[in-house]
Amino acid sequence: MIEFKNVNYIHVNGIQALKEINLSIKPKTINALVGSNGTGKTTLARHINGLLKPTSGNVLVFGKNTKKISVASLSKRIGMVFQNSNHQLFADTVKNEILFGLNNFETDSQIKKNRFEWALNFFDLKKYENTSPLKLSGGEKKRLCIASVLAWNPEVLILDEPTVGQDQVQKEKMLKFISNLNKQGKTIIIISHDLEFLWPLKPNTIVMAKGRIKKTGKMTDIFSDDELLNQTCLMRPQLLDLWMKLNIKEEPPGDITEATDAIRRINGS
Ligand SMILES: Nc1ncnc2c1ncn2[C@@H]1O[C@H](COP(=O)(O)OP(=O)(O)OP(=O)(O)O)[C@@H](O)[C@H]1O
Ligand SMILES: [Mg+2]
Repeated sequence: MIEFKNVNYIHVNGIQALKEINLSIKPKTINALVGSNGTGKTTLARHINGLLKPTSGNVLVFGKNTKKISVASLSKRIGMVFQNSNHQLFADTVKNEILFGLNNFETDSQIKKNRFEWALNFFDLKKYENTSPLKLSGGEKKRLCIASVLAWNPEVLILDEPTVGQDQVQKEKMLKFISNLNKQGKTIIIISHDLEFLWPLKPNTIVMAKGRIKKTGKMTDIFSDDELLNQTCLMRPQLLDLWMKLNIKEEPPGDITEATDAIRRINGS
């Protein structure tokens, strides 16, 4: 579905943000892109919806080279929620922000109406319908960005740091929502430093360091690798840490409930 072939990217200031990236993202999967600040995660994501084109190498999306398709046609199928909400929001009201993408990408007026109402309500934005996006709090701005993109129902969703500024209630809601979207067949790519958030999703994990992909694989395998964690300054998620410290061989649990059940089972209680 998404393929990077020997991709290098040099920003205009001469910084090479991507080095020989080879990567394949399969349809209907949840993927996490992790790594410390400045390792090229956002730069890589911006290649998927064609906002950036490789300096050398190629990115293929749905079998087409991004150098040969317009950003607009890619955006319809690949929704991207930017890391910095202020780079995404531009309309005069919350309502118009959500309607902008919808009006561009959806023609059926009933579907448009339904999706608009859904986006507004699901992301708890109804009371701000006629407010300027600039007047929202940081967490609310992020939710508006996600709502605006999901409103037009793209096949692939890229979320760049979705949990920044979100309280625990919103994070849990987002977690369930991402999982449901994936069950409906969407491909999800999440860039995040919030490993505890990612853990229950059990994503395919792509670790970046200094513009390169260091390792890809299951989150459990990635975060069991002490040497990799030392090299990339990543912290092991707590439940995996607990499982390793208790030397439990079975698959680590996704959440506290699963952990409690497993420990009770193992103890025979
Ligand atoms: N628009 C730009 N112009 C010039 N250099 C850039 C630009 N965007 C990013 N860079 C540089 O490219 C490198 C990779 O940046 P990028 O934003 O992709 O990292 P990141 O992994 O997303 O980091 P973070 O976790 O802080 O969001 C950094 O060295 C950064 O300074
Ligand atoms: Mg980034």
